[in-house]
Amino acid sequence: MNSRDIDVPGSRELARIAETAARATGDRLRGAFRSRPEVALKRDFHDPVTVHDKAAEETIREVLAEHAPGSVVVGEEGGVQGGAQDEAGDVRWYVDPIDGTANFAAGLPFFCTSIAAVAGGEVVAGVVYDPVRDDMFTASLDGATCNGEPIRAAGAAADRTGVIVTGYPNARELKRAGDAALRNYARLVESFATVRRPGSAALCLAHVAAGWSDAAYGTSVNAWDVAAGLLLVRQAGGTYLPLGGAPGGDDWDAPGYVACVGEFDLAGSVLSEIAGLAPAAGR
Ligand code: IPD
Ligand code: CA
Ligand code: CA
Repeated sequence: MNSRDIDVPGSRELARIAETAARATGDRLRGAFRSRPEVALKRDFHDPVTVHDKAAEETIREVLAEHAPGSVVVGEEGGVQGGAQDEAGDVRWYVDPIDGTANFAAGLPFFCTSIAAVAGGEVVAGVVYDPVRDDMFTASLDGATCNGEPIRAAGAAADRTGVIVTGYPNARELKRAGDAALRNYARLVESFATVRRPGSAALCLAHVAAGWSDAAYGTSVNAWDVAAGLLLVRQAGGTYLPLGGAPGGDDWDAPGYVACVGEFDLAGSVLSEIAGLAPAAGR
């Protein structure tokens, strides 16, 4: 499949392949959940990984190789692989086998598998699969669904009535920005009705797409965390804005994001200031 050919039916087909690949991880992840799997560390002690992350990614790579031979797969655990120039040569998959590994390893039921297909300079398909609830969020150029039902990013219009989901600030941001990051966090807590730190950027974005949360904010993510979620949010009628990316770079490569439901007053939100979208009022 060539990127020039990715029309609506083509993107639906890529979404179906992504669903098959994500679902193939389900039995393993459900079976290992709450077994307190052994944890190894990647960057630092805030960054856990288990044998199940690696095994789930292998399963996904096998399904993608079978259904979309020749496409490039960029996975969190295994890096960039594939890319032979045959029928799927222009499709690039971004795979996070477990987004929310810290939750998965501890036994908290908020983690997911995230898979997106990029072609022709845009995300054309994406799925976020929550194996605990068996929720399959799917986005294609045709729209966004959860378990086959259309979803709408609809909810609160302002901070006072809004629920925001965020991992901000994390340990690296605290080290970098110190008290300023804590003050920003305090402003979110004061302004929004509710602030939550659920621990999976991809599943948070899927929940904004479904209208189960009103806004999401993240500042140190990778393409495999957000590529599927950004298409879900946009196709469901919400807003996804990349933050801090290279000029002219791709949205999914930006290290940060703000997302919100369609009617949310982002310009009037404290989030605009904190994310650097608007000048700080009187500060
Ligand atoms: C992490 C989660 C977390 C986000 C981090 C990600 P992982 O992914 O999405 O919510 O704040 O930036 O790295 O390590 O669980 O795949
Ligand atoms: Ca992740
Ligand atoms: Ca991961």
